[in-house]
This record gives sequence, structure tokens and C-alpha cells, in this order.
Amino acid sequence: MKKDCSKKINGEFKNKSIISLEQFDPKSLQTLFSTIEKIKKRIHKKGNFTPLLRTVTTLLFFEPSSRTFSSFSVAVKRLGGSTLEYQNPLQTSSVVKGETIEDTLHVFSNYSDLIIIRHPEKGTAQKAASLGLKTPIISAGDGIGEHPTQALMDMYTIYSHFGKLNNICGLFAGDLLYGRTVHSLIKGLAFYPNNHLYLLSPKELRLEPGLKKELSKSGIKITEIYDENDIPNNCQFWYWTRVQKERFNDLKQYEKVKNRFVITPRLVQKKGNNKMIIMHPLPRVGEIDTRIDSDPRAIYLTEQLQNGVYTRMALLSLVLGKL
Ligand code: NCD
Repeated sequence: MKKDCSKKINGEFKNKSIISLEQFDPKSLQTLFSTIEKIKKRIHKKGNFTPLLRTVTTLLFFEPSSRTFSSFSVAVKRLGGSTLEYQNPLQTSSVVKGETIEDTLHVFSNYSDLIIIRHPEKGTAQKAASLGLKTPIISAGDGIGEHPTQALMDMYTIYSHFGKLNNICGLFAGDLLYGRTVHSLIKGLAFYPNNHLYLLSPKELRLEPGLKKELSKSGIKITEIYDENDIPNNCQFWYWTRVQKERFNDLKQYEKVKNRFVITPRLVQKKGNNKMIIMHPLPRVGEIDTRIDSDPRAIYLTEQLQNGVYTRMALLSLVLGKL
């Protein structure tokens, strides 16, 4: 049997693959958050700080990416490590010649200390982690499955605002069927008691019923709503997402549902409150009116992005066991 390194974290990140939020628990998340805080302090002191010196991290991205790719790349470099970068290996690597993903992964595990992979096919990250490679794997987005590192930065963002991850009321809107960031984030919030999540999406893009049932077992309260008028006024966060055009076989279906729900100043005025934050994993394609950008509650172009780098720095140093 090949070793599967995507085990439960249980407070010990070293050499573990990071594939799903299901590997986590509140204690491990606390370890991550305190590492993020430590890293932020060191960065602000501008101290010499190179725990990943002489390590190489492979970035293997089979799907387009701006933020995840570059924030991982920056995170590695800020920690003194180097990267081996493949954006679009389908055009530039031996995959073009017909090499299997398994062989490609074996190659990079011999050249580097860690492999970060994004792939359009759900399950590929888990498959990679089960190959018994020398290097751990971090998923940077697994088809319509999960996007664990985005959820970790989003959880840290909510935590740093409200000082807790329990007793939270939140709204998720947009593409909850195909949006992998949402799947991971809801799984993470389900670890904490008394959270209540409202899910607003066109009926074609509801959270997959099996996943909803699984999550509800953990005790998290999930309320599906169909109309903006049903958004409660007491949400601590709104988490908006784009409709994932590339996941549709029929573009007519996409046209039918895209931008059904858009954040406008009027909606924020009507359904928001002073203490809430407005989040989005980006890219946005019309579902947030740009007039919202200057609202201090909107953090998708500022804090959420910065936390992406800090969270990835913390995760990299924990997985590579260096700080
Ligand atoms: C998301 C993704 O790739 O899943 N983007 C990201 O990584 N920040 C969201 C999306 O593509 O809509």
C-alpha cells in the first residue's frame, strides 16, 4: 500500500499534504493562526527571516490562476525559498507529449521539497497525495471540489475581525455548486458551535445536497434562501462568489444564471450592518458593483489578499517544518 500523507493534521503539520478542510480541527487551526501572527510580527519588524532557505517548491498549475499562484510564489520567496513554476503545463511540459500526471508528479518530487498543484479534475490532489511521493502536496484548487488554502486564509480573516469562529452568522452567495472556495470554507466553519450560514444562489447552483446533509450533521445551521429580501440584517460576513463559467457544458445555462445576485450600494444599505465585512475570493466578473470597493467593510481588494500571503507563508513553514 502506498503511503497517503493527507492525514488528519492533529496539530502536527510537518510533511503532511493539505488536500481538504476535513483534515483540520480547531486546535490545528489555532496553531496555524498563531503562526500567521508570528510571521506578521516578524515581517513588520523587517527582521532577517529565511526559514525556507535552500528549499525548492514546485508550483504546478493546470488551471488559470492569478492570486493563488502568485501569492504562493511570493510566500515561498519571502521565506527565502525558491520556486519551480509551471503555469499551464498542458502547453509547456512533457504532459503535451502524453506524460501521465503521476509521472510528472514523480519527476517534480525528485526535484523539490514540496509540490503545490491546481487541477481541473476533482480528486487529482488526493490522487497525488496517495502516490507515496517524497514530497507533501498542497492543493491549490481541486476542480469543483475544494480549495483548502483559500478557506484557511478566509477563516483567518473572519477570525482576525471578530476574535472567534463560533456564534457567527454569515451569508454565502453566487455559485455554491461549483465554487470550491465555498465548499472548503463551510467545512471549516462547521467545526465551531452555533454558526448559522445563509446560502443565496440561483436554484441551479445550490450547494450539492449530499454535502449539505453531511455538513448539517456537524450541527451547523444552514438556511437556503432564494431572494435578496430574505438576507438577515445581522450577518458578520457576506462571502460573494462568481458563477464559474468554465464548469458549464452549456453556455446558455451560464448566461441564464450569471449575475443573478449582485452586491450594490442599495443592497448593502438595505441588508447590511455597520460591523460586517464583505469578502470575495476573486476574480469577480460583475457580481460586485465597483462602487462597493471604497466601502470600508469591503476587504476583498485589501485585507483578504494580504492574509492570503501570510496564511500561505505560515502553512509553508509548518508543512516544511521550518520557522
Ligand atoms: C477561486 C478559485 O480558483 O477557486 N479563486 C481563487 O483561487 N482565489 C475562485 C474563482 O475562480 O472563482
